[in-house]
Amino acid sequence: MSVAREHWGSRLGFIMASAGSAVGLGNVWKFPYMAGENGGGAFLIIYLGCVVFFGLSLVIAELLIGRMAQSNPVGAFRTLGGRGWPAVGAMGVLTAFIILSFYIVVAGWTLAYILFMGENTFGGVDIEQSTKIFTSFIASPVQPLVYAAIFTVLMVGVVLGGVASGIERASKWLMPLLFVLLIVLAIRAVTLPGAGEGVDFYLMPDWSRVTASTWGGAISQAFFSLSLGMGAMLTYGSYMSREQNLPRDASLVVGLDTLVALLAGLVILPAVFSAGMEPSAGAGLTFMTLPTVFAQMPAGEIFGLAFFILLAIAALTSAVSLLEVVVSYLVDDKGLSRFAAAAGTGIVIFIIAIPISLSQGIWKENTIAGMTFLDFADFVTAHVMMPVGGLLIALFVGWRLGPRAVEALKSHPEQHLPLAGLWLFVLRFLAPAGIAWILVQGFFE
Ligand code: PFF
Repeated sequence: MSVAREHWGSRLGFIMASAGSAVGLGNVWKFPYMAGENGGGAFLIIYLGCVVFFGLSLVIAELLIGRMAQSNPVGAFRTLGGRGWPAVGAMGVLTAFIILSFYIVVAGWTLAYILFMGENTFGGVDIEQSTKIFTSFIASPVQPLVYAAIFTVLMVGVVLGGVASGIERASKWLMPLLFVLLIVLAIRAVTLPGAGEGVDFYLMPDWSRVTASTWGGAISQAFFSLSLGMGAMLTYGSYMSREQNLPRDASLVVGLDTLVALLAGLVILPAVFSAGMEPSAGAGLTFMTLPTVFAQMPAGEIFGLAFFILLAIAALTSAVSLLEVVVSYLVDDKGLSRFAAAAGTGIVIFIIAIPISLSQGIWKENTIAGMTFLDFADFVTAHVMMPVGGLLIALFVGWRLGPRAVEALKSHPEQHLPLAGLWLFVLRFLAPAGIAWILVQGFFE
């Protein structure tokens, strides 16, 4: 017996949920430090190029596959592609699993930081003390896992509610709150004394800092930030109705995600410069540098609190979409109930997160290819699995579906698709060639 597939309750709900998937730790935690390490404005230009040339076309492609098949990633490739193709969907489900296992760890840190800010733990500390607070917190064996567990419960709770009354409803509340917090913080940051230098650094390209790895970094960041190449957009597309104008709404989601990344950089980099600190502090920028910046700012505790609440919201709506990829597969293909699928996956992911969290402390010495488990999980998904998945999805829609895909985009007759030809050209040639070139370059570095 088949039950009618659930759909989004409204167009706005779809946009908020999809923007919720895209806007996450990638935008607020990763993007500013990557820009900081890779020549500020130069990284920005390369990143924007990747989003416009590859990102948007692929978001449309993935949403469309989902909408055409009305199914989870594995089922969708089976229905539309036949032999061999379901492997692409299966790789997506696996990728979602791996991302989740480190995502909940870092998301747990953001929950802890909400409490730290509330308790004014960073009041009057300098960068050395703040580094110590962070490193000893993430190195402790139990505490970070408690926060990861709380985050997992929240995430499973939202997914249990279902598509419209769980994911959509939560996103419709949380995303506007996130935008408001971000705008308030950006205004605060750019009006700090000495912030101008940070704004210049952020917006002025310094091409001398651009290396071969900058390109790979930008494309993997675009994939990660847009939740691409592993079936998340595909899954959300499978809850779309045919009446929706897909290219227009996909552009909105891509635009919102990019705007949030740009604004997050505009919060963090000027604040860091204003406090006289180094913008290239890497992954620690958010958790080590930023709290000391808040500590020096008038009413900094409040802004600090707002910032970490924002980060936790961003993480939650993204994690929900990752979990939904796995849940939709288990429900559609394995016949599990939503409850069993969501709760069971939550438990398994938490168990995998244990070694990942411990890799920041007592298991630091256990490395894979010279990386801690956490860095490895991040690297292998963002730099390998997502771009490879994206490449295969581009080939699938470009060649296997081809004109059928263009036809399916025209869901209502009056819809004009002046750029459909260009879209197909990007998927057939530009995206595969560009992604392959960048991937290969990464290997020879
Ligand atoms: N886009 C999210 C971020 O920028 O943090 C991460 C992510 C969410 C990746 C969902 C993949 C995904 F399916």
